[in-house]
Amino acid sequence: MKKRNKILLAVVGAVLAVAAVCLLTAYFLLLHHYRGNEVMAPWSEDDAFSLAEIATVEKQKGKPFVILNLADVQLCDLEDFFYLDDMKREITDLVNRAKPDLITLTGDQTWSNENLISLRSLLSWLDSFQIPYAPVFGNHDYGNQPDSAVLSRNACCDLYESGKYSLFRRGPSNLGSLGNYVVNVTEEGKIVKTLYFLDSGYEDQISDEQIAWLQWNAEGLRAANGGEYPAGMCFFHKPIPEYRAAYNAYREGDPTVETIGEVYVSDSLSGSRQNGFFAAAKAVGVTDIVCGHQHGNCFTIKYEGVRLTFALKTGDRVYYYADENISLDGATRFSITEEATEITLIFANKKEGDPQ
Ligand SMILES: [Fe+2]
Repeated sequence: MKKRNKILLAVVGAVLAVAAVCLLTAYFLLLHHYRGNEVMAPWSEDDAFSLAEIATVEKQKGKPFVILNLADVQLCDLEDFFYLDDMKREITDLVNRAKPDLITLTGDQTWSNENLISLRSLLSWLDSFQIPYAPVFGNHDYGNQPDSAVLSRNACCDLYESGKYSLFRRGPSNLGSLGNYVVNVTEEGKIVKTLYFLDSGYEDQISDEQIAWLQWNAEGLRAANGGEYPAGMCFFHKPIPEYRAAYNAYREGDPTVETIGEVYVSDSLSGSRQNGFFAAAKAVGVTDIVCGHQHGNCFTIKYEGVRLTFALKTGDRVYYYADENISLDGATRFSITEEATEITLIFANKKEGDPQ
């Protein structure tokens, strides 16, 4: 190579390097300071309940209502930059196979502190399906510590609320966390299911304020539903201690618990601390709880009349310790009629015998 070309190449390389440093600096410093919109909307038990303020998704008459839950997608801007297309393909395939009426996401959609590109990508994929979707926050969505990510909690709320098919609402500002909201599944005006979306946050427990707010909603819905609580489903990220109790009861052969499908437990069952959430939710008609967070665990165990589901992780291969051929990667499908709820796993790396 001629000396002149070498110099030219060095200059181009130096310019590109400076541009890359400038872009990364802008990414980490400038965007990191974008705090999003702080919306003060405190809730009080004395507030009047309004059914009209709750979003609804219509169930088609005579057909099951299908929810597809994606758990712990955990996209990271820097590590996953070249992996995003694979994830888009995987999620698209899961959606095409499950044909859901609603997509729920039980937290940790993004991971680590670099989440701008990954969250925007995920939202654009979800909007492209033209199916309503409802996410909750996990412990990594707005950083590895509270608001340590490029996108703060409020900035994440802004983005989630901007999705065309997103049902996400930041909810009241005084519950200790954001992203608490309710969605009704209705059929010809009648409530078939009430879906409670909660942020289980960093404090390792759902706050007393969140419990009071859930009860307030349930009481309002009961009044609007002819005096009966609608059957409720809760979606949040971290499992409550009853998951461990249910699994232990199953292991000990307790005849009062019932499993639905396979039980995979590879990770510790430690989760959030006890604060009475389970009893409070059960008392207001909650029949299903769906969590993520521990990627090596996946099961549904009916415990004290409530189906506790550890949702199947979406993306990346997590192998079940007892059989390395089982990759815990895919999504959980809930097929709901008024009479029953059918729960199946849809594995991403479909093999013979897997659900379609
Ligand atoms: Fe998590």
